[in-house]
Amino acid sequence: MESSKRRKIAHPVPKKKPVVEDPPAKSSPEPSDEESATVEEVPSAEEDAPKKTFKDLGVVDALCEACDALGYKHPTPIQERSIPIALQGRDIIGLAETGSGKTAAFALPVLQALLDKPQPLFGLVLAPTRELASQIGQAFEALGSLISLRCAVIVGGLDMVPQSIALGKKPHIIVATPGRLVDHLEKTKGFSLRTLKYLIMDEADRLLDMDFGPSIDKILKFIPRERRTYLFSATLSSKIESLQRASLRDPVRVSISSNKYQTVSTLLQHYVFIPHPQKDTYLIYLVNEHAGQSTIIFTRTVWETQRIAILLRTLGFGAIPLHGQLSQSNRLGALNKFRAGTRDILVATDVAARGLDIPKVDVVLNLDLPQDSKTYIHRVGRTARAGKSGVAISLVTQYDVEIYLRIEAALGKKLQEYPTVKEEVMTFQPRIEQAQRHARNEMKNLTEDRGKKGSVLKGGKRSGREGPKRRRDEMDKDEG
Ligand SMILES: Nc1ncnc2c1ncn2[C@@H]1O[C@H](COP(=O)(O)OP(=O)(O)OP(=O)(O)O)[C@@H](O)[C@H]1O
Ligand SMILES: [Mg+2]
Repeated sequence: MESSKRRKIAHPVPKKKPVVEDPPAKSSPEPSDEESATVEEVPSAEEDAPKKTFKDLGVVDALCEACDALGYKHPTPIQERSIPIALQGRDIIGLAETGSGKTAAFALPVLQALLDKPQPLFGLVLAPTRELASQIGQAFEALGSLISLRCAVIVGGLDMVPQSIALGKKPHIIVATPGRLVDHLEKTKGFSLRTLKYLIMDEADRLLDMDFGPSIDKILKFIPRERRTYLFSATLSSKIESLQRASLRDPVRVSISSNKYQTVSTLLQHYVFIPHPQKDTYLIYLVNEHAGQSTIIFTRTVWETQRIAILLRTLGFGAIPLHGQLSQSNRLGALNKFRAGTRDILVATDVAARGLDIPKVDVVLNLDLPQDSKTYIHRVGRTARAGKSGVAISLVTQYDVEIYLRIEAALGKKLQEYPTVKEEVMTFQPRIEQAQRHARNEMKNLTEDRGKKGSVLKGGKRSGREGPKRRRDEMDKDEG
């Protein structure tokens, strides 16, 4: 770490700073139950108070300059409220809407603490997907650009040897998916996190759910209990038990919501109620209505993601699939093409539901509804980020009514129906039927080629469509 004139002595860490305990009525989007007994809350900032700067929050000059270079003029509300508390050395549970700047809210205090006491293997950031880990790594690199930060991204699907070499260079910050980090902790000689000072779980509710349980428990055994811990998400349960596994010490809960719903006010949300057999037709109609706009289509399975991408391409749309059965280079390639605008439609499983920050996304289409309302909130949060506007449309069939009503109940509002004229939609049908036949054949070939050298899909041959048991298939559970 460079010794720079910009560097300042970090703030002293008081044993325990008194924080006002009464939560403001509208600060939490979730019903507050037992949490105030064990977790302190901070009140929201004065609505009409003059806008603060990062310097006002106690951020040192080198990091303020990096924010400036990224175009961050003022802290966002979650940054404004959590950074000063984090700089006091407290554990944080940070809850704020999608696209509200949570990444910098946890990165800045860690980087500042690192500047204060530079050491290798200082902070570990865990994320549930490889693409998100790599995005967070880039955010750390950008914010740490003026302080010679060394950051390593350790994710599954890539060769372990270069990762071992990167770890051997003793990075300050590691951003990792849990499974692959466990592999290195168990197998990479000389790699240890015994001196780690900061643990951050981004998308903490996802990391603390059952899928990641075993890996997280192992990681917690490898790192010191004496550390700072930050948990961040747009959907954190107010039930403390579910967060206890992360063994926080005396945490402060910072909860921000710009309105009483769980999604941002710049997001327009609609549903279309349709007969199940006509899903493809309605989807193509909606894609056509939004032609030229940057769109993410979410589906429930790998198979459907691949099929819809083929269907759209056959009809002349620039679509690319992203799911857990692609090789890692294909996954990153798909995302890069979509980010760069070479393709304007990303067809994805829930591997893309959380955290991905692609500012130009205009539309989110839910071809299939997700199984739970949290995933819905994250999916639609891929648009309308950082104050921008966006549209989300969900296709609801006769089989989805129950889950749809659950989502509406979680949102706390009724969504408006997206106006469609059935006769107009049906004019697409003949061309779609032709494209469906082509897509079916292509899928058959892909399934047969599965696992062969150069094939798109990984793994052994599978028998066609994945049934309900495969619902959470490879779509959002990264093995590492
Ligand atoms: N202070 C700021 N001023 C302007 N833009 C900002 C600021 N902080 C962050 N951003 C930008 O806002 C966008 C969203 O930030 P980020 O990805 O951290 O959101 P998030 O809260 O983590 O969302 P999600 O819940 O979807 O993960 C990013 O493009 C980021 O660069
Ligand atoms: Mg995020």
